[in-house]
Amino acid sequence: MAEPRPPVRRRDLEAVEIDLLAEGIYEAYGFDFRRYSRPSFRRRIWRRVEAEGLSSISELLARVLHDPPCMQRFLSDLSVNVSAMFRDPAFFRVFRAKVVPLLRTYPFVRIWNAGCSTGEETLSVAIVLKEAGLYDRTRIYATDMSEATVEQARTLTYPINKMREYTANYIEAGGTRSFSEYYAADGERVMFHPSLAENVVFAQHNLVTDRSFNEFHVILCRNVMIYFDRVLQEHVHKLLYDSLTHFGVLGLGGRETIELVSHRDAYVPLDETARLYRKVA
Ligand SMILES: C[S@@+](CC[C@H](N)C(=O)[O-])C[C@H]1O[C@@H](n2cnc3c(N)ncnc32)[C@H](O)[C@@H]1O
Repeated sequence: MAEPRPPVRRRDLEAVEIDLLAEGIYEAYGFDFRRYSRPSFRRRIWRRVEAEGLSSISELLARVLHDPPCMQRFLSDLSVNVSAMFRDPAFFRVFRAKVVPLLRTYPFVRIWNAGCSTGEETLSVAIVLKEAGLYDRTRIYATDMSEATVEQARTLTYPINKMREYTANYIEAGGTRSFSEYYAADGERVMFHPSLAENVVFAQHNLVTDRSFNEFHVILCRNVMIYFDRVLQEHVHKLLYDSLTHFGVLGLGGRETIELVSHRDAYVPLDETARLYRKVA
């Protein structure tokens, strides 16, 4: 008979509980957090443990398994959906200058905004394409793993107090119109013009567990993979690579780079500072 194992240290026990929680969520709900960056996953777990009035990660596991609304609350904790219109204005300035001319050469353009959060990035792209006269021949697929987030994106509404920041970003990103043309204020909120979403398909899609669903001329996946470990980043990069047309453009977030992934040789920088790459192999 095998010798009983010596008791594990408290910290190791926590790692065991986190593994079990991630495994349980994957088995029961299909959301795969097994390879999310551990420090941030751990922080969010403990925040939820406290918010639910529990005292251990194992108790949280039991609760999420038996109480789907608790799983929804936990999902909201895990979905860091901070976004902004024309976030990193320099990115959109380069997008106008270097990506738009490439898109003019296509009769029809398909763009995938993967990890679109509440739609700010999607609407920013839509505005750039409207101004370039390309929107009518473009379809933008805007997806996020969180259904609640996608639902919010579909409303096209945002707090009015964000408009000062978004207007400044728009101008810094090369916008020359009056930004307020694009929305109508209604009390504390503004609603962006529905024509901006005419050619947008908002849908739930999980980059970890779902497959490629089309071939795109541009994929923006910005500030999503920072929460993934290296193995998961590789997995998602393969999905993005498989979903890009030859000469398609990949846009990443300011703190993300293609340099560390095995597909790096398949891309050349279109603009390294803006994290825009072109698929060449
Ligand atoms: C910080 S936001 C970035 C939003 C936007 N791309 C931007 O740069 O402003 C990250 C988004 O990625 C989404 N996300 C995280 N893991 C995902 C996954 N496995 N599949 C799809 N979306 C995911 C989150 O729900 C969140 O809305």
